[in-house]
Amino acid sequence: MTTRPFERQAQWSARLGSPFMQRLCLALDRALDMSSETGRRVMGWPGDPVADAMVLRVTGGLNALVRAGKAPALASLYPPNPLPETAALEAALRKTLPVVGAALQPWLDGPPQTNEVGRSGVLMPGLMTIAARTGLPLRLFELGASAGLNLRLDDYAYDLGGLRTGRTASAVRIQPEWEGPPPPNAKVNVTERRGVDINPLDVTDPATQQRLLAYVWPDQTARVERLEAALAAAAADPPPIDRADAADWTERCLLPLDGTATVLFHSIAFQYFPRASQQRIAAHMRGIGKRTGAFAPLFWLRYEDDAGSPGALPTLRLTSWSGRPEGDPDEEHLADAHPHGTQVRWRLPQTGN
Ligand SMILES: C[S@@+](CC[C@H](N)C(=O)[O-])C[C@H]1O[C@@H](n2cnc3c(N)ncnc32)[C@H](O)[C@@H]1O
Repeated sequence: MTTRPFERQAQWSARLGSPFMQRLCLALDRALDMSSETGRRVMGWPGDPVADAMVLRVTGGLNALVRAGKAPALASLYPPNPLPETAALEAALRKTLPVVGAALQPWLDGPPQTNEVGRSGVLMPGLMTIAARTGLPLRLFELGASAGLNLRLDDYAYDLGGLRTGRTASAVRIQPEWEGPPPPNAKVNVTERRGVDINPLDVTDPATQQRLLAYVWPDQTARVERLEAALAAAAADPPPIDRADAADWTERCLLPLDGTATVLFHSIAFQYFPRASQQRIAAHMRGIGKRTGAFAPLFWLRYEDDAGSPGALPTLRLTSWSGRPEGDPDEEHLADAHPHGTQVRWRLPQTGN
């Protein structure tokens, strides 16, 4: 893997199935120089450009300008037009960058914040597993919820390894490539839901909606359309998201309740929490897990990039405290999944569905 941020993102985008982003990043690598405001800022980037997601700040800003009709030379090469040559993109960027400098600068000021609805296709089978085992309604608590789109996951239509579930009439349709047996066929009945984010996004705000859409890679049209549908549904019924640090909130809000399965969950978020917060969340779960009774089971469902080896897929893991008087909680590795939820390798053996 190269250490040049634009080349590195180009390689990564190719692996994640975005040939347009691959070429755009290579073209940006050539077109950004000291002659444009954006080029000067990128070349003198004060921090770690990779850790700061500097490239995605630039590409998100450009996509927003294209979507708003403010970068016509680029727009003629962006999807749904055919995949352009890198040289054509470079030429259009050289024309565009000097003109859109001022509009692009705010995009460089902060990191991208996304909310990937495709991840519901990984979290949902985890919840179905819990529902199948407990037969109980679920209370959902999400950490790092962003706009809360995955907190509304029972509102979406799914095909999970041939198993159709969820609200089948939903405009948000989620059908990951599936390997392994289907998940347990249990209805997910959510009686309570609440999320937290250090910077919650307001799904009813049109500017926030456009910002979220701008960070989706423009040739991944299914993702764009699904996000549009999920945003429209969430704007009509906004999920409750508190503004707080994940650990403060977990300690304050999370307690089991008789007659329900209480589920703490998160996707591609834990790595962004401060180390101390991560440790406090784990300690709180262990603490309340020890005291939980058989009628108030507690679960911690984690879809996180925790494999530790380069190229390995994120995992879906479940810790279950179900009121056994002695011993440790059950720990299970339920699935491996693409970071956007497009592929799921389900690992549990088939149970009697
Ligand atoms: C990569 S996004 C993932 C969002 C969402 N879970 C998803 O899968 O689409 C990570 C989220 O974690 C949030 N976050 C970062 N640090 C946090 C903290 N200390 N407490 C709560 N949320 C935090 C960010 O604001 C961001 O919305």
